[in-house]
Amino acid sequence: MPIRFTRRQLAAVGASALGASATAVPSGARARHGAAAGGEASRVFPAGFLWGTATAAYQIEGAVSEDGRGPSIWDTFTHTPGKIRNNDNGDVADDHYHRYQDDVRSMKELGATAYRFSISWPRIFPRGTGAPNPKGLDFYDRLLDNLLANGVAPFPTLYHWDLPQALQDRGGWETRDTAEAFADYAGYVAEKLSDRARHFFTLNECATFVELGHATGIFAPGLNLPPGRLNQVRHHVLLAHGLAVQAIRARSRAGTKTGPAENISVCVPVIETPEHIAAAELATRELNAPYLTAIMEGHYRESFLAAANADAPRVAAEDMKTISTAVDFVGINVYLPGSYVSASDAVPGFASVPFPAKYPTMNSSWLKIGPEALYWGPRNVAKVWNVSDIYITENGCSATDAPAADGIVYDTDRIMFLRNYLTQLQRATSEGVPVRGYFHWSLMDNFEWADGFGTRFGLLYVDYATQQRTPKLSASFYREVAARNRLV
Ligand code: NOJ
Repeated sequence: MPIRFTRRQLAAVGASALGASATAVPSGARARHGAAAGGEASRVFPAGFLWGTATAAYQIEGAVSEDGRGPSIWDTFTHTPGKIRNNDNGDVADDHYHRYQDDVRSMKELGATAYRFSISWPRIFPRGTGAPNPKGLDFYDRLLDNLLANGVAPFPTLYHWDLPQALQDRGGWETRDTAEAFADYAGYVAEKLSDRARHFFTLNECATFVELGHATGIFAPGLNLPPGRLNQVRHHVLLAHGLAVQAIRARSRAGTKTGPAENISVCVPVIETPEHIAAAELATRELNAPYLTAIMEGHYRESFLAAANADAPRVAAEDMKTISTAVDFVGINVYLPGSYVSASDAVPGFASVPFPAKYPTMNSSWLKIGPEALYWGPRNVAKVWNVSDIYITENGCSATDAPAADGIVYDTDRIMFLRNYLTQLQRATSEGVPVRGYFHWSLMDNFEWADGFGTRFGLLYVDYATQQRTPKLSASFYREVAARNRLV
C-alpha cells in the first residue's frame, strides 16, 4: 500500500516543495543553542530524536478469541449493550493481528523510527496468572522481528487497560493480588522480549483507567466505587507499577529501560512570568498527587491525604518505597492543558483559572487545543522531578476525517494541531528539556474506547468495511517532519 502521493495528488494539494530540499540533520549544538533567533536553527530537533507512532492492543488487534487469548474486561464491557457509542467493540478492530506486516510497512513509509504498542495481558496469560500461552507470545515475537527488520525500534507498553476478566472476577484492581500478578506477567514478558525491545512502559495512563473505569464507570470495568475503595484501587495500580519496574529489572537483559506512560495534568502558567511559572510547578505536584507525584516522590502529599481523610489508602510498610523505585525515563501522554494556573496568596499557593465556555476543542469534547501543553508538560516534569529522559508517549487529535472525492483525507485541522504542538515541543528541546522522542497517537484510526470507531485519531484512514488503510494528508506532514528532524 503506497503511502506517498502521486505527482498529480501532490500538485493538487500544493505540496510540490516536498522532497525538494535535502534532509536537515541538526548538529547537537545547533539543536541546543539555536532557539532564540528564529530561522532554520529554531526549527530543528536534537540529533537522534525518535519519531514514532503509538497504538494499543485492544484498539487495533481484533482476533479476540484466537490462539488462546482469554477475555479481558474490555470484551465484557463492549458486549454490554449501551456502554459504547453505536455498541461498537474490538472483536475485529483494525484486524492488526493478521495485518501487522502491512502496518509495519506503513510505519517504515512514514519514516517512523520507533513504535509504541501494547501487549495484551490476556494473550500471554489468558486467565491473568498461571501457565503462559505460547501462541500469545509468538505474535509479539513476530511483530518485534518485523519491526526490527524494518528499522523500527519497539517500545512495548505492558498494560493498556485490557485486564484479564478472570482477575476482575477475583476483585480486579481492588486487590493487591492484581498488582502482584501484573509484576509476574511484566517480568515474564521482559525476560522473553528484552533481547529485542530495550524500553518497556509499565502502565498506560493510570489516571484515566482508574478514574473512568472505577469512579465514573464510563470505561471498563464500569464501576462507581466509593472514595475509600477508589483510593485503594489507585494505590494498587501504583504498586503494580513499582513491582513491575523491579520485576523487569530482575528478569530482563542488562541495560533494559523502563518507566511509566502517564497522562499527567499539564499545568500551564496563565502568563509566563516567574510567579505564575512557580505556581504551575507547585500545581504540577499537587494536581498529580495520586499518580505521578507519588511515583516520583515516594509519598502521598499531605493535601491529598487530608482531603481523603478516613478514605485514605491503606499503605503497607514498604509500599511507597516500591512505588518510587527509580525509573529510567518518564513517558507522558500530552493532549491538552489540564489547567491554566495562576499564582495565589491563598492556600495551596496557586489557582486553576476556569476554561471559557467556547474554548476551542478538536473532535473530542475533552480535547482542548493548547499547543503550549507540549512545552510545559515535559518542562515541568524535568524541572520538578529532575528527570533526565522523557518520552512523549502520546500526542495527537481526533478530527472529522472523511475522504474527499479524490480519495484523499484533507485533515488540515490535524496538521494545524500538530504544527503548533510540535512547535512547542521544539521550544522545549531547544532549551535543553530532555525529551528523547515523540510517539504520535495514532498510527491509524482505531477503536476509541467508549467513543467507538466514529472518533478518528490516525495518520492513516481506516475503512472498517474493507480494512483498507489510506494515508491522510497529515501522514505526509509527519513524514516530512520525521525525515528532516525539523518543523515544516
Ligand atoms: C489516551 C489513551 O492512552 C489512548 O488509548 C486513547 O485512544 C487516546 N488517549 C485518545 O483518546
